[in-house]
Amino acid sequence: MKTPSTVSVIAALSLALAVHAQSASQTAYVDLGVTRGKPEHLASGWIYGMPDNYPNQIPSSWYTAMGFRWGKGGGAQLGNVGQRGWVVSLDDYKGRFASTLANYKTCRALGAEFHIYAHDLWGTDHAGGKNGKWPGDGGNFSDYDKFVKQLMADVAANMDPAHVTWDIWNEPDIQPYFWVRSAQQWVDLYIRTQKAIRANKALDAMKISGPAIGFAPGPNNAYWTTWLPQAVGNKTIPDYYTLHLLGGLGDITYDPQYTNTSLASLLRKYGAPDRQVFVNEYAAAAEMVPSGYIWWISRLERYDMFGMLANWLGGTQLHDLFGGLLTKKANPGSYAATDYAPAAGYPVYRYYGTNMTGLRVNTTGSTDRWLDVYATVGADKVRFLAGVKVHTGTYAVTVRGLKSVGYSAGSVDVTAYSFDGASTKTVLSSMEPASRGKTSYPITNDSITIVVRQTANHTGWAYDFDVKKSKQV
Ligand SMILES: *[C@@H]1O[C@H](CO)[C@@H](O)[C@H](O)[C@H]1NC(C)=O
Ligand SMILES: *[C@@H]1O[C@H](CO)[C@@H](O)[C@H](O)[C@H]1NC(C)=O
Ligand SMILES: *[C@@H]1O[C@H](CO)[C@@H](O)[C@H](O)[C@H]1NC(C)=O
Ligand SMILES: *[C@@H]1O[C@H](CO)[C@@H](O)[C@H](O)[C@H]1NC(C)=O
Ligand SMILES: *[C@@H]1O[C@H](CO)[C@@H](O)[C@H](O)[C@H]1NC(C)=O
Ligand SMILES: *[C@@H]1O[C@H](CO)[C@@H](O)[C@H](O)[C@H]1NC(C)=O
Ligand SMILES: *[C@@H]1O[C@H](CO)[C@@H](O)[C@H](O)[C@H]1NC(C)=O
Repeated sequence: MKTPSTVSVIAALSLALAVHAQSASQTAYVDLGVTRGKPEHLASGWIYGMPDNYPNQIPSSWYTAMGFRWGKGGGAQLGNVGQRGWVVSLDDYKGRFASTLANYKTCRALGAEFHIYAHDLWGTDHAGGKNGKWPGDGGNFSDYDKFVKQLMADVAANMDPAHVTWDIWNEPDIQPYFWVRSAQQWVDLYIRTQKAIRANKALDAMKISGPAIGFAPGPNNAYWTTWLPQAVGNKTIPDYYTLHLLGGLGDITYDPQYTNTSLASLLRKYGAPDRQVFVNEYAAAAEMVPSGYIWWISRLERYDMFGMLANWLGGTQLHDLFGGLLTKKANPGSYAATDYAPAAGYPVYRYYGTNMTGLRVNTTGSTDRWLDVYATVGADKVRFLAGVKVHTGTYAVTVRGLKSVGYSAGSVDVTAYSFDGASTKTVLSSMEPASRGKTSYPITNDSITIVVRQTANHTGWAYDFDVKKSKQV
């Protein structure tokens, strides 16, 4: 009798042959036998994306289901009188601090760590550009020093420093938006700020991060090569090295696989110590689709980098909507509206935060760099996400080490799911990925190979199958 499962075994066999014929450079690997600790949702955070009041109208389940780890604020783009930052007036600083504090409270209520965008409290967006006023102009930092003193006092009085990170200055190389003076003037700012904070006993438990340079670290990045030796020489290395990875889709210098090495060689060259890397803005706007989100999650998890999703929204939407993971049914631009709904990325982060339990296992991305995978082994199932980053083609995932989850021979029944959303605005009808049915894959050499036919560049994928013998979880 021709049962459905024999049909799919035959289908899988012919797919396996097709894969064999294709380039090995388009294959990613999941190694079930190599565990890497419990999932900590290293990529579950974003910059801004929370309303500026506390408590606010986004129900906490939207945050917790994605394993929310970190958030960041500072009052960017607030333009009303009383909200434009220190550079305009003390009152305008206070308005931005109120926004910062509301975001801090939201994060802490959910157990997430909070990061401060100090340059936004200072108010780079109201500094007046090249002809305006910047810290250290004419060698005079006295007004900026007052700002640092005020912010330190406000953090100490209103926040628990143990759960706060002060990001010294954002993107000094992205001119004229965040800085319009020399790299050296910014390095001087960095060093005096780090020293002022570390001289303040009330903030001993607070972390400091930097350099938050917009372009990727490398031997030819003059911001890195100006900053790093002086930070070493002045003993002002931050607690987190912050990177922004927001490059073009195919630009390998914005790939953690490249920056893990390029940063390490810079650190060695200048005798700098290792620190936790925090990619405190990841993903270009074009990568904000399921295939891109999954690729980023997989990359950050592999290199154990902490990550916050970048936020390409503006105005009130910058201060709402989780950086585009959420939208609203009627009008996402209506700040007060509470008809929140999932946009394309939300189900990916929800699956990552809620479903992927157990232990992380080792993975390897395809050598052509477009496909990457993130995998966990739970008490019940093996689960993995596969993302071909905004790209099409025939790809494959080989899952190795099946013996370690109790399979010796025969086949494995794998259920496939697709994340089909394509936009940060369109409302999805479900929080769940669509089931694409079960396929039986024959085991050869302790492994199975699953073909990923990526016909639409935004689609993301999840797969699961039963664990027969549970690992120690
Ligand atoms: C530095 O700037 C402040 C105003 O921010 C001013 O009061 C002070 O006189 C300046 N110091 C020098 C040495 O010019
Ligand atoms: C310390 O930093 C200052 C800039 O603020 C720089 O001029 C000096 O060279 C640095 N010292 C060392 C030893 O790197
Ligand atoms: C990342 O770089 C560090 C430091 O060079 C290295 O020890 C580590 O193995 C690299 N990680 C991966 C996954 O290659
Ligand atoms: C993810 O977990 C939720 C909650 O346990 C469950 O209802 C849902 O079916 C799971 N989704 C998938 C695709 O496994
Ligand atoms: C884990 O995967 C990385 C590549 O992603 C590989 O370099 C490393 O050797 C693997 N570790 C083990 C123990 O298999
Ligand atoms: C079987 O798998 C192992 C490890 O995954 C690999 O080293 C070996 O080359 C494979 N053997 C064959 C015949 O494919
Ligand atoms: C992805 O697909 C969309 C829709 O077909 C297309 O408009 C877009 O240019 C594609 N992006 C890339 C990077 O190929």
